[in-house]
Amino acid sequence: MSNTRILAIESSCDETAAAIVQDGRIVMSNIISSQIDIHKQYGGVVPEIASRKHMENINWVVKAALSEANCTWDDVDAIAVTYGPGLVGALLVGVAHAKAMAFALDKPLVPVHHIEGHISANYIEYPDLKPPFGCLVVSGGHTHLVRVLDYGKYEILGKTCDDAAGEAFDKVARAIGLNYPGGPAIDKLAKEGDPEAINFPRAKVAGNEYDFSFSGIKSAVLNYINGCEMKGEEINRADIAASFQKAVVDVLVEHAMRACKEFDFEHLAIAGGVASNSTLRSAMQDACDKAGIAFYRPSPILCTDNAAMIGAAAYYEYKAGVRAGLDLNAVPNLRLGER
Ligand code: KG4
Ligand code: ZN
Repeated sequence: MSNTRILAIESSCDETAAAIVQDGRIVMSNIISSQIDIHKQYGGVVPEIASRKHMENINWVVKAALSEANCTWDDVDAIAVTYGPGLVGALLVGVAHAKAMAFALDKPLVPVHHIEGHISANYIEYPDLKPPFGCLVVSGGHTHLVRVLDYGKYEILGKTCDDAAGEAFDKVARAIGLNYPGGPAIDKLAKEGDPEAINFPRAKVAGNEYDFSFSGIKSAVLNYINGCEMKGEEINRADIAASFQKAVVDVLVEHAMRACKEFDFEHLAIAGGVASNSTLRSAMQDACDKAGIAFYRPSPILCTDNAAMIGAAAYYEYKAGVRAGLDLNAVPNLRLGER
């Protein structure tokens, strides 16, 4: 059987990305044009600017993906694109570009869910990983505990009721004077702090035991900082970073391990930008080692937004016959498992 090569596009937030992935597992190229330096000046992603930057960059990013993979259009079997969830104006740039290419080149168009992409980053890093497995998806926009039943088949066991884990990192980082994106900055500063210095709350959510809530931890950090200021005490930013990070990681590990036990997962994966957090990676590894569960964590570059993960997810959708028409639209609130 000949190889299937998919050209994938990702533009749901502040990365313009294109990749060529072979058979869902082999990355032939993975080009990422990050806008972080621009959004940093505003303390977060400005949607309007993100869309305009995608417009400027998408052409060269796609061309670079082809040339780095040493491919011509004839070598590409299908075009894949993230069509949700994400910022609508940002998604539209990728969707419109993918549709134009599919039309002009007469190639199939495969629509991909952004979170399915994050989960599928694990297929690239671990060629032997196959469903079923459990996956904790933690990004700037999402916090989902997912049961991966099969390729393209998911059951959401729990999700956040308020802020996403990455959003909490970004907001706390801003409160202690760190730049956007806050996650990597907190990860770094926390290494100099004491994770036991301040006891921030580990929020429990009434109802579904697998749901998460991070707005309470964020408020507790802000209250702590205000309290110190009122008492005229100097804050120790590294201790705040380390203690906050520990509180978030404890909850993520605890929920994931409980799900592993209840659903008999032998394999647990993590995905999304926050999955590149060094404390989360080592705490989850330790917990899995103790429980005899195989642990999977993509390299940091495959955890944050990229198009290779979209190409990996697209391969299984393509094989299942999933195709979009030229009326494909961006769906900013698309839910996992929905078409
Ligand atoms: O997956 P991603 O690139 O974009 C979304 O789909 O949201 O995730 C971005 C999020 C940001 O909130 C960023 O602060 C967080 O991932 N992040 C981290 C780390 N690296 C990125 N959070 C904690 N520790 C990190 N090392
Ligand atoms: Zn993402």
